[in-house]
Amino acid sequence: GLDVTGLLAQTGHVTLDAGFVNTASCASTITYIDGDAGVLRYRGYPIDQLAEKSSFLEVAYLLIYGELPGASELADFTERIQWHTLLREEMRRFFDGFPRDAHPMAVLSSAVSALSTFYQDSLDPFDREQVEISTVRLLAKLPTIASYAYKGSIGQPFLYPDNSLGYVENFLRMTFGVPTMPYELDPVHASVLDMLFVLHADHEQNCSTSTVRLVGSAQANMFASVSAGVNALFGPLHGGANEAVLDMLQQIHAAGDDAQSFVKKVKDKQAGTRLMGFGHRVYRNYDPRAAIVKKAAQEVLSGMAKPDPLLDIALRLEEIALSDDYFIERKLYPNVDFYTGLIYKAMGFPTRMFTVLFAIGRLPGWIAQWREMMADPMTKIGRPRQIYTGATERAYVPMEQRG
Ligand code: ACO
Repeated sequence: GLDVTGLLAQTGHVTLDAGFVNTASCASTITYIDGDAGVLRYRGYPIDQLAEKSSFLEVAYLLIYGELPGASELADFTERIQWHTLLREEMRRFFDGFPRDAHPMAVLSSAVSALSTFYQDSLDPFDREQVEISTVRLLAKLPTIASYAYKGSIGQPFLYPDNSLGYVENFLRMTFGVPTMPYELDPVHASVLDMLFVLHADHEQNCSTSTVRLVGSAQANMFASVSAGVNALFGPLHGGANEAVLDMLQQIHAAGDDAQSFVKKVKDKQAGTRLMGFGHRVYRNYDPRAAIVKKAAQEVLSGMAKPDPLLDIALRLEEIALSDDYFIERKLYPNVDFYTGLIYKAMGFPTRMFTVLFAIGRLPGWIAQWREMMADPMTKIGRPRQIYTGATERAYVPMEQRG
């Protein structure tokens, strides 16, 4: 074990809190979570009310500016975003350079990072106007980048944005449309995807948001900070979980639909098997977003011509887990991503695009948190301490004397 007293004598009084389980990194006015009660609010508004009544751009405005927009404020915000949806042609050619089988999250983070090369006029984190234009550019261009990452992966031509369409409609058309045919939008898909973006829009100091803040605390520009957040979200324990859930459901299906024996494997911790889409650092109760997503999944999937057997497996897994002592004792409940993948699949998204959808949804939160941090006079560069457990001082050994 660690010689804690000895270490403290060397280091002085520092707190070791692996994974920041109990350490706040900032004060924030954006998002409130009560993990025990299963409560989530953006700027005070409960998530279920926002999911039911608001739209994604309205929520983006709320998170970034602190208040719900009036009708003309929302119209103006929407118009500014629509104006900036195009990518520069040089940037469009980027997508040809990546291997066809590249993960779209890797393409997304690279392209977001590259925005710092194209928009050198808006990199000053303390210039209000520059921060405004970067905010609008990011929100406008992320869906275009995401759909180009997808089109590049399947070798189809890119579609330019159509700014007469809404935010989500435009994204769906750029992703699934082809230049040779008119695109027929499914309005249920558009409204459900908009709602899922609302549910993902912020979640206080999660791994990717903390990453955005840490990178930003060095006064790195918004594009650089957000691309770091995209990379954090790429990880399977964070945004990559929605993809991992679907892989898990597919594996169970391929092995004969035996949810019970899969849960047993999880409980026996065989090769680190986890029930993906279950558990959360903060929620020790049903994730309020998961309840909304579950309902949406049942709605979207019931409208399909051919039922998806994976939905039944997911429902069964949840039922088994929620009545099993292993999960009860550890307070493991479905999180937001347990059912999202099934909806994305029903809409036609390949599994690898799932985390990209999470990134589009989370973007307003990253921007709002970055801006809040930059505007806060208490902000200092993030610089954690450590407890050193390596070798004590020793003299350099010349090469010829090493064994
Ligand atoms: N399946 C089985 N056991 C689990 C799971 C799970 N999904 N999650 C946690 N546990 C167990 C752990 O093995 C541990 O058991 P032990 O006490 O016997 O060792 C106990 O529950 C506590 O788990 P920790 O890993 O310490 O919890 P932590 O808060 O660090 O992890 C996390 C949270 C990463 C979300 C975890 O629950 C997990 O890996 N879940 C699966 C991945 C997932 O769905 N991630 C999405 C998170 S939400 C999001 O990003 C939108």
